[in-house]
Amino acid sequence: MDTWIIRAARLGDDLVDLTVAEGRIAAIAPAGTLAAAEARTLEAHGARVLPSLIDAHAHLREPGFEYKEDIASGLAAALAGGFGQVMAMANTNPVNDSAAVTAFMLERARASHPSGPFLRPIGALTKGLAGTELAPAGELAAAGCVALSNDGKPVVSTELLRRAMEYAADLGLVVIDHCEDPTLGAGGVMNEGALSGRLGLKGIPTVTEAIQVARDVLLASYLHIPIHIAHVSCRESVEVLAQAKAKGVPVTAETCPHYLLWDEGMVDGYRTAAKVNPPLRTKDDVLALRQAVRTKVIDLLATDHAPHADHEKDAPFAEAPFGISGLDTALSLTTLLIAQGELSWDDAIRLWAKAPARTFRLPFSPLTPGAPANFILWDEETLWTVSRQTMRSKSTNTPALGMELPGQVLAHVLGGQLLFQRQPSPWPIS
Ligand code: DOR
Repeated sequence: MDTWIIRAARLGDDLVDLTVAEGRIAAIAPAGTLAAAEARTLEAHGARVLPSLIDAHAHLREPGFEYKEDIASGLAAALAGGFGQVMAMANTNPVNDSAAVTAFMLERARASHPSGPFLRPIGALTKGLAGTELAPAGELAAAGCVALSNDGKPVVSTELLRRAMEYAADLGLVVIDHCEDPTLGAGGVMNEGALSGRLGLKGIPTVTEAIQVARDVLLASYLHIPIHIAHVSCRESVEVLAQAKAKGVPVTAETCPHYLLWDEGMVDGYRTAAKVNPPLRTKDDVLALRQAVRTKVIDLLATDHAPHADHEKDAPFAEAPFGISGLDTALSLTTLLIAQGELSWDDAIRLWAKAPARTFRLPFSPLTPGAPANFILWDEETLWTVSRQTMRSKSTNTPALGMELPGQVLAHVLGGQLLFQRQPSPWPIS
């Protein structure tokens, strides 16, 4: 196994050298002070060293929709985007509601990425995601699922949700709920408000989400069983979560970079790249979400990477599928929020690594001697243009397409192996 010395990396406010041996961080010391005779050298030139990230919510589309993305291309985008673990949603075809599908997905991940990034499948909460019969939670857990969710399709029956939470708790899993009232705003395609009126598009009210968040926190409180709320998009949900957390209800929540940076104005002009469910909301919602992320009312960030093919998004707004591709741009969008003073790097590490690890009982490797060497080198200054050529996902459905964003992963080390290095490399490797 390789022995590495990484010179002049930024760790917090310090410039350090790191040595990696036998898959672990061997030493961290002030830059210029470590010598490692037999080691290969990476010059970091001040790039930031960050723990490898965890994406708690992605759609990798395999099996069934490989023309949008497959596990190999999704994990390649993850690796280049800084993610060492990816939780993959169950809305595949067939749905991931059996051990056979979970095993197939894990096998596909091992075949293309044997040393990582690691796929962490999310099992379906109901069979076929149909919302009528519970999927076999024990079988899914034994096969390697790390959570249960009906994502994409809200769980309408509260009785079923309760049973799923109870089974999940017995198995040490958490239920992730996509909160969307099934009737209020049904058939909507964007945020409900003045803009949806002007565009003549059916709106989805914010309370469509918040009503279900309220149901879920009441249930979690009653059962004393944790629940995780997917992709929070609006102020009302934040207010419900803040109240619940103040009372000690075991609820965790995520939002995504697109809800922190963009508002409904992005869909003006019938821009389908910005069509996502839940929809981009108002500027006021963006402000509420930013504050919730800072104050830990929202626990973690996830991409909700939802790749679609160009021909699908190239359709009348009402007909185009919901979803934004996120794995390639997540850390750059986070860097933008940091540059705007909205977040710190410590917040970013908490939101993208520590909190998802804690919430879903996944491994997290701190940047300390003795820990597994799972980290990225992040050049936060270089600008890059989001394009078909620069994205590793099969998809390009993001409002960021064509934008210039800050930050690139220069290297991704997992288990002590240099699995990704940006080409052309700015470094001499000796
Ligand atoms: O925008 C979305 N796309 N929201 C979801 O909940 C599902 C996802 C998808 O699978 O495309």
